[in-house]
Order: sequence, then C-alpha cells, then structure tokens
Amino acid sequence: MNIELITKLASKPQLYEKGNSVMWTDPYISKQLLELHINPNHDIASRSHEKIKNLAEWILGNTGKERMNILDLGCGPGLYAELLAQKGHSVTAIDFSESSIQYAISQAKEKQLKIEYMVQNYLDMNFEGQFDLVMLIYLDFCALLPDERDKVLEKIYKALKKGGLFICDVVNEKNLDKKIIAQSWEVQKTGFWKNTPYIALANGHHYPEAKVLANHHIVIGEKEEVSTYIFWNHYYKKEELVPILKQKGFTDIKTYENVLPDSDCWNGENVTFYRSKKE
Ligand SMILES: C[S@@+](CC[C@H](N)C(=O)[O-])C[C@H]1O[C@@H](n2cnc3c(N)ncnc32)[C@H](O)[C@@H]1O
Repeated sequence: MNIELITKLASKPQLYEKGNSVMWTDPYISKQLLELHINPNHDIASRSHEKIKNLAEWILGNTGKERMNILDLGCGPGLYAELLAQKGHSVTAIDFSESSIQYAISQAKEKQLKIEYMVQNYLDMNFEGQFDLVMLIYLDFCALLPDERDKVLEKIYKALKKGGLFICDVVNEKNLDKKIIAQSWEVQKTGFWKNTPYIALANGHHYPEAKVLANHHIVIGEKEEVSTYIFWNHYYKKEELVPILKQKGFTDIKTYENVLPDSDCWNGENVTFYRSKKE
C-alpha cells in the first residue's frame, strides 16, 4: 500500500478542495443512498418518515395557501413531493441522482400521483415566475459553496411567483463540536462505498475563517485504488444569512428553531429553518 500517498491524501484539505470522486451520482453509491433515503426509521440521507410527515405539515402550515405550485430542489426519492401531491398541490421535483428519480417516478406511478420529476442539477435550472413555494430541505443549502449559494438563491428568486415563499433548513452555529465528524475507520467486504472489499478512513475538519466544516472520506479498494470525497458543510448565524437573503431580494424573512423535536446535530435547536418571501 502506498502509505506516502495515503498520508498525503489524509491531511487536512485546503478550503473548498474537491475530492477525486463524486458520491451522489455514482451508480453504485447512489443505490446505497437510495436504500438509506427510503429507510423510514433513521435520519441518514433523508430524515425519518415520521419527521418528514411532521415537517411537510409544518411547511404547509407556514404557507397558508391551498393548491400551490411547489418546486422541491434536491428531492431525493420524492418523500416530501408525494406528501405534498397527496394534499392536492402541483409538485415539480428535481434531483441529479438518476437512481432516486427513477425510484420516485415508479412510486408516483404506483400511487397514481401526478408529480413532475426531473433529473437535473438545480444549479442549472431555469424557471421564471412559476412557483408559490420553493423548498430545499435537509441542509442541502449548507453544502453550497458561496458562489453556488448566490447562484441558487438568484434562480430560486426568479422561479418564484410574486408573493411566493422559499423554505430551507440550515445548520447553525450551535454545538459545533458535535457537528464535526470524529476520526474513524472501517474495513468492509462490501458496503456503502463499494461492492468489493475496502478500507474507509474518515475525518472532520473545521475552517472557522469560512464558517465551514469538512467531512473527509478516503476509500481504498482491493487494487489499492483510492477515492476521496470531501463534503463542505457551512453553518450560518441568523445575523449572517438574513442579510444574504435580503441582498438577493427576499423580504419578510422568518426564522424558526426546534421545528423538529430531536436535539441531535441535524434537528432541534441545531438547525434553523428560514422562510423568505418574494414581494
Ligand atoms: C440530503 S439529501 C435530501 C433529500 C431530500 N430533500 C430529503 O430530505 O429527503 C440531498 C439530495 O440532494 C440532491 N442534490 C445535491 N446537490 C444537488 C444538485 N446540485 N442538483 C440536484 N440535486 C442535488 C442529492 O442527490 C440528494 O438526493
């Protein structure tokens, strides 16, 4: 094993450095992710189905409108899209994971729900004045690098009708120590990263100057091939994000904590929901 290479790859990445591999759209990993999304009992990839049901109701309760045109960005296998369509809303849902969208389409057909699913990178979307509500749920907002965040906010603003709402959830600055993943390793015959034997190393890093955390994964396969994955996860104080939303034209910005009862890192007081309006 090339220890020198692994030592180099395992050092703290430069800010916003990219890994050499992509997780969400990898054909094998995206199937493992789909299994995680649709497991109703945990909060990995998607929140538990009970939380999703509560959150969908909370979202609708905060819009006060019936029969909306809704855009769900990063919809995964359509767990929210289905609940919203069942309540009579018209839903368009985008994800760049082919596996998730294929599953979502088959579920919608089986349940006789009319949902428009699209395999697309939401950074490339181009809607204009069509939606009453745009949602970006399960902290995807935090994964966007600053220029991507600005681009998506502009595209969301453009996609909304006048008076339309944007709802997203965001990692906040509370309990940061618990939000940095611990150093760990695993040895598998087959598992999340590969269907052949592998060793996976993981470590978390904090970049306080950019208010971002990195989840750094190194996966070494049986032919000693090394894949690296780096996930950037920004955290925002309200005083920082509200001005960014205002600068993009949003008004009437409301923030909420403890929307979901659990107080693990990705729920409770550790996550802030934002509801902003296009006037
Ligand atoms: C954490 S999961 C959340 C899925 C869903 N919102 C939920 O809560 O069940 C993030 C999803 O966003 C998708 N995604 C991430 N970046 C994307 C992008 N730029 N364009 C489209 N989909 C994206 C991933 O494929 C994944 O399905």
